[in-house]
Amino acid sequence: MVILIGNQKGGAGKSTLTLLLANYLTESHKRKVTVLDMDYQQSVSAKYEKAKVLDNDPPYEVMAADLTHFPMMLEVLTVNPDETVLIDLPGKMDDDGLIPVILSGDLILCPFNYDEFSVDSTLLFAMVAGRINNRAPTVFIPNRIKANVRYDTRQQVDRVLAGFGTVSPAIAERIDFQRVDTLHTPAIVLPAVLPVLDLLYSNYIDKGGAV
Ligand SMILES: Nc1ncnc2c1ncn2[C@@H]1O[C@H](COP(=O)(O)OP(=O)(O)O)[C@@H](O)[C@H]1O
Ligand SMILES: [Mg+2]
Repeated sequence: MVILIGNQKGGAGKSTLTLLLANYLTESHKRKVTVLDMDYQQSVSAKYEKAKVLDNDPPYEVMAADLTHFPMMLEVLTVNPDETVLIDLPGKMDDDGLIPVILSGDLILCPFNYDEFSVDSTLLFAMVAGRINNRAPTVFIPNRIKANVRYDTRQQVDRVLAGFGTVSPAIAERIDFQRVDTLHTPAIVLPAVLPVLDLLYSNYIDKGGAV
């Protein structure tokens, strides 16, 4: 199964969600996971290389992948039908080389915040991805929700996004997310993320098993 994590907007939480999901699938469900880092910043693979120095038996691999090598990499990775491939997509969707990447997805996850600019880029991403791949369900994940802020547009935004996919429960803003690293999810963020990860697993990933 291939899971894409994308949004045009930088800072929406793509890389963080990729790592949270990789940690969760390997730890809680003993899944075989490979992460493909296609973001130009390659923050996930940089963190991974650092973490690997301290851990000689990492629970999953993180590979920096560019668009030219993607088709071959995917072919190798999906030989095993039990493999779950998580792809941290680039922030920009302006390269035709991304079409096979989008087409490969069985599930599209789109973390976003409720500020206006982010919603525009969130919609743009969902429309582009949905036009290329209308087979994969899209799940929008509200992220960095502050407890003391009223989001006036929240209901409207959810209604618009519901036309393109499903809006999941929200992930709260927590300072400890800075410590989400490869191989390790700080226990303190678990209450904020487990409801979303459990829902993704039971509604989409468990069923999606070997696609
Ligand atoms: N729920 C959250 N609460 C607090 N900080 C968060 C949360 N989600 C992400 N962050 C932080 O926001 C920044 C951007 O997140 P990141 O995952 O790198 O975004 P992207 O990959 O979409 O650019 C990082 O510093 C990350 O630690
Ligand atoms: Mg990133």
